[in-house]
Amino acid sequence: MKMQMMENKKRILSAIQPSGLPTLGNYLGALKNWAGMAREFDCFFAVADLHAITVRQDPALLKKQTLQMYALLLAIGLDPQRDTLFIQSHVPEHSQLAWILNCYAQFGEMSRMTQFKDKSSVYTDNINVGLFAYPALMAADILLYQADFVPVGADQKQHLEITRDIAARFNGIYGDVFKVPEPYIGKQGARIMSLQDPSRKMSKSDENLKSFISILDKPDSIMKKFKSAVTDSQAQVKYSPGKDGINNLMNIYSCCRGKDYEEIEKEFEGRGYGDFKVAVAQAVIEELQPVSERFERLIDDKAYLEQCARQGAQKAQMTASRTLEQVMKKVGFYKI
Ligand code: TYM
Repeated sequence: MKMQMMENKKRILSAIQPSGLPTLGNYLGALKNWAGMAREFDCFFAVADLHAITVRQDPALLKKQTLQMYALLLAIGLDPQRDTLFIQSHVPEHSQLAWILNCYAQFGEMSRMTQFKDKSSVYTDNINVGLFAYPALMAADILLYQADFVPVGADQKQHLEITRDIAARFNGIYGDVFKVPEPYIGKQGARIMSLQDPSRKMSKSDENLKSFISILDKPDSIMKKFKSAVTDSQAQVKYSPGKDGINNLMNIYSCCRGKDYEEIEKEFEGRGYGDFKVAVAQAVIEELQPVSERFERLIDDKAYLEQCARQGAQKAQMTASRTLEQVMKKVGFYKI
């Protein structure tokens, strides 16, 4: 009976890079949605360590951050018994399918990826082939599991589109091998912006530490960062085009409190930005505190985390290997 219910559930897959502690942007744009969707869907979530090495990583730090990120998957409320939670490099099928998909992705379409353009303008001394081929690995992550939906923030939409193109192209040649996945991008939270330069997305690699909230920031640090958030001189809590700073704060508040913009405007009518910033900080603190507390309890239990990761990888591999085998057969690889 339980098995049958699983089969009726639609499947979602998503992943996050362990290149530093996630930000409030990762949390509201992706992680919170993952946790919210988990009961309804058959879930696969990965720590994307293979993606992380497209920019140079310190080996010891990468190792530490990979386990931290895994612990965070549990801390946000995912359940290692119900959901398939794994570390990408533990399932070699990801690298194997990525190579094959590289041969079905076009140089021209890969060259148009804005993330590649952005990153290659930042890491000018290391524009490696992996950074360029990154979307083919991401396509492999998704297509291996025949995912129906992929919950991501707006910045990953283009990668989802290329995944769909690659899947459709492959299916066009060999028959229906891959499910063509749909992006799932939340209405609110899809793009959380920097607190210091609200024209740019909030990012953990930002040099200005005041520009982003880390998911494990302490309450006083969160309060300070919001108090110094860049807004404008109008001092009216109203969502309107061009007011990127206040719009961003309203978006954050809306995600945390589940209120729409109209309700927020009413709540803060006649009150200044100062009050509002404190209220946003408070809402974020309340949202993140339980996650931090669960994380602190989990991170010292390395044996438990490793056991979950091992089981997660085994579960993931059962599905991944089936898809890879089918792909290899279709392509015409000799099997003995
Ligand atoms: P990554 O690790 O950069 O980010 C993880 C998730 O967080 C979302 N996100 C944001 N959402 C709203 N506002 C922001 N400022 C913000 N910053 C990040 C991202 O959209 C993402 O959903 N390539 C992916 C990881 C990946 C993946 C996959 C995702 C690898 N394989 C397969 C989906 C399916 C990435 O670098 O995300």
